[in-house]
Amino acid sequence: MKNIVFIGMMGSGKSIVGKKLSETLGTFFYDTDHIIESREGKTISEIFELFGESYFRKLEEDIVKEISNYENSVISTGGGIILNPVNIERLKKNSFIIYLENSIDELISHLNDETQNRPLLANENIYFKLNELFKQRENLYKKNADFIIENENMEDTIKKIINLDII
Ligand code: S3P
Repeated sequence: MKNIVFIGMMGSGKSIVGKKLSETLGTFFYDTDHIIESREGKTISEIFELFGESYFRKLEEDIVKEISNYENSVISTGGGIILNPVNIERLKKNSFIIYLENSIDELISHLNDETQNRPLLANENIYFKLNELFKQRENLYKKNADFIIENENMEDTIKKIINLDII
């Protein structure tokens, strides 16, 4: 099986949907942010604070290089993975890319109290910041996706993905 890679904004549900899909399919599951945190022994916020965003983006690129060689896996990525075209090129080799799409209001309601480990949202008006990031990124998400799935409800989202007939 080709890998299934989830892309999308913070709060789009990539990690939770990815984990559930991998359990449903009995495949491996990887989450780029979790791998980075466990290898560095630090949270994403600590990495941004101590070493800066560009250091984090380099770690992200290294992880993508490694996991893009895997098979039979569901992979959830950080929201900024699409900013680096090399990441997309590597992932596309062996994966279907699914963009989980949500309205800004849905993103905010999913993020709820989970903004403390999202350094790009720290000390920001979340509504304005998410809008700004979404404007910068929407085209990249859409352009690089093999499939775009609206993620309103996890069970429905899993069914929609299984019905794509790519597995
Ligand atoms: C980021 C999204 C985060 C994490 C980092 C940067 C982004 O992942 O990789 O804080 O640039 O959108 P999630 O999309 O899982 O929140």
